[in-house]
Amino acid sequence: MAAVLAAAAAAASPQSHAERAAIDDCLQEARVPVDARNSTEWKQDARPFNQRLPYTPAAIAVPTTVGHIQAAVSCAAKVGVKVNAKSGGHSYASFGLGGEDGHLVVELDRMYNVTLDPETNIATVQPGARLGHIATVLYDDGKRAFSHGTCPGVGVGGHSLHGGFGFSSHTHGLAVDWIASASVVLANGSLVTVSETENVDLFWALRGAGSNFGIVTSFRFKTFAAPPTVTSYQINLPWSTSSAIVKGWGALQDWLQNGSMPAEMNMRVLGNAYQTQLQGLYHGNASALRTAVAPLLTLLNATLSNVREHDWMGGFENYAYSNEIDITTPSYNAAETFYAKSLVTSALPTSVLQNVADYWTNTAKKVSRAWYIIIDLYGGPTSAITKVQPDATSYAYRDPKKHLFLYELYDRSFGSSSYPTDGFAFLDGWVRAFTDGLDTAQWGMYINYADPRLSRTEAQQVYYRQNLARLQRIKQMVDPTEVFYYPQAVEPAER
Ligand SMILES: Cc1cc2nc3c(=O)[nH]c(=O)nc-3n(C[C@H](O)[C@H](O)[C@H](O)COP(=O)(O)OP(=O)(O)OC[C@H]3O[C@@H](n4cnc5c(N)ncnc54)[C@H](O)[C@@H]3O)c2cc1C
Ligand SMILES: *[C@@H]1O[C@H](CO)[C@@H](O)[C@H](O)[C@H]1NC(C)=O
Ligand SMILES: *[C@@H]1O[C@H](CO)[C@@H](O)[C@H](O)[C@H]1NC(C)=O
Ligand SMILES: *[C@@H]1O[C@H](CO)[C@@H](O)[C@H](O)[C@H]1NC(C)=O
Ligand SMILES: *[C@@H]1O[C@H](CO)[C@@H](O)[C@H](O)[C@H]1NC(C)=O
Ligand SMILES: *[C@@H]1O[C@H](CO)[C@@H](O)[C@H](O)[C@H]1NC(C)=O
Ligand SMILES: *[C@@H]1O[C@H](CO)[C@@H](O)[C@H](O)[C@H]1NC(C)=O
Repeated sequence: MAAVLAAAAAAASPQSHAERAAIDDCLQEARVPVDARNSTEWKQDARPFNQRLPYTPAAIAVPTTVGHIQAAVSCAAKVGVKVNAKSGGHSYASFGLGGEDGHLVVELDRMYNVTLDPETNIATVQPGARLGHIATVLYDDGKRAFSHGTCPGVGVGGHSLHGGFGFSSHTHGLAVDWIASASVVLANGSLVTVSETENVDLFWALRGAGSNFGIVTSFRFKTFAAPPTVTSYQINLPWSTSSAIVKGWGALQDWLQNGSMPAEMNMRVLGNAYQTQLQGLYHGNASALRTAVAPLLTLLNATLSNVREHDWMGGFENYAYSNEIDITTPSYNAAETFYAKSLVTSALPTSVLQNVADYWTNTAKKVSRAWYIIIDLYGGPTSAITKVQPDATSYAYRDPKKHLFLYELYDRSFGSSSYPTDGFAFLDGWVRAFTDGLDTAQWGMYINYADPRLSRTEAQQVYYRQNLARLQRIKQMVDPTEVFYYPQAVEPAER
């Protein structure tokens, strides 16, 4: 690990020494707080969640005010160093560090305040707040919430600007759907407000592809009343053979596609080398869950287990896999060494289902690492995600017919061992088992599970699909010189 970091630093140093001095000088003159190079704070802030992808920044700014963020961006533009916001640092591709050496990192995690307006129920959220802290404050202060993912350490910045799916999303949509407005620092250092009525193109672009257009300095989120009771549950799936997977998955997708999944239900398939199960969170009590889920159990020949009622925060804790929920400390240290790929697909034709099931049983189950597949029951006619108009935001996957499942394919190594080189082919092969039999309108990928091995061209297409051309035109208008750049960033349209 140390050797990897030193090698990366050495590789970056020849061309960037003068640039580093220039960015340091500019930040100092503008009185932007920074981490001293190689200090404890520097090491902490440069530490990626994905230990496979460490990068060495040119400088790390640690703003506590909007003015600091504006000054930092202006310095980057002036000196010609690329700049990226880092909120929770959970990007799978370390894009908060720029996804390569030599960027100015604007570390936002000192700006984590969350306030709820009791009149409007609008939450004002600073851009470095983590999901567990936001959920805690909104619940404690007003029994309110908005939908988002499961991990309490994930930052609101990256998560909500690029989607944000979790155990409220079938019922209430994605995190991005709850953004009412935002304040944003643009490439020229100016601060603007975006909303349904102000800077509407930019508001559209930020809600799905935010990292390309500026640094959000403050969010305003709408909220919903947290239900008094939620119920977690499991359904064990007997998916031990290829034919059982084809049959069970086929039944599940018919049920999802034809509108049989109650809106209050939120569910995912979790599969690993040992078992496969449905995990769910029902927004309601246990007896209502039992009634709602009965037809599905019959369909799958399966039984319900681990039914537990919780209050709202208990429901979050149940799937958080963390002792700490209300995380505000910068010295949050969760990390893994991993590679992941994502997919969004339509319902799978039987031939594709067969290929996927064969790959699962014949290849994946023989891999002894701690891989997993998550199949989110994401879309379909009862999902709140598909109730938002497909062109309302730049987030690309809203079609009730085309966007049924969201997948995460995740493979990791433990301890100090590095990720094995044959791991890439393992996940590439699994994704191909899906995509080979689908046409491009039937699938895409999710940038919140960024795959840094995609070329820039391919990444833009699979992340943004029908929205890419408009995103590129807006990029050309607000950031033609690519001050906000990372290896998979949206390219400006040609002049
Ligand atoms: C353990 C774990 C669990 C996860 N669980 C879920 C889940 O349940 N559901 C789900 O949908 N996703 C989940 N994710 C993925 C997560 O949503 C993304 O990785 C997300 O982008 C992380 O946001 P971040 O702010 O923590 O990351 P960062 O690395 O800080 O940022 C990610 C990207 O957003 C940009 N960005 C950050 N802040 C701003 C800002 N203020 N303005 C403009 N751009 C900004 C960065 O420059 C970077 O490009 C999980 C990830 C991990 C590691
Ligand atoms: C920081 O650490 C790296 C790697 O250990 C080393 O090469 C470099 O000289 C150090 N820089 C400073 C300014 O101390
Ligand atoms: C957060 O709120 C507290 C209390 O209002 C305030 O003292 C602090 O300065 C705020 N922090 C930031 C980074 O704005
Ligand atoms: C459930 O069992 C019935 C009756 O044995 C069978 O016809 C059906 O195919 C099974 N469904 C699944 C998904 O295994
Ligand atoms: C939906 O599909 C499932 C699975 O094939 C079936 O059991 C159910 O009756 C269907 N419901 C409707 C409303 O069509
Ligand atoms: C459970 O929820 C249902 C639907 O909201 C309600 O009618 C019922 O009274 C509740 N039951 C209990 C035991 O609280
Ligand atoms: C900054 O950029 C925005 C978007 O391109 C533009 O509208 C604004 O006029 C610019 N501001 C200044 C001061 O140049």
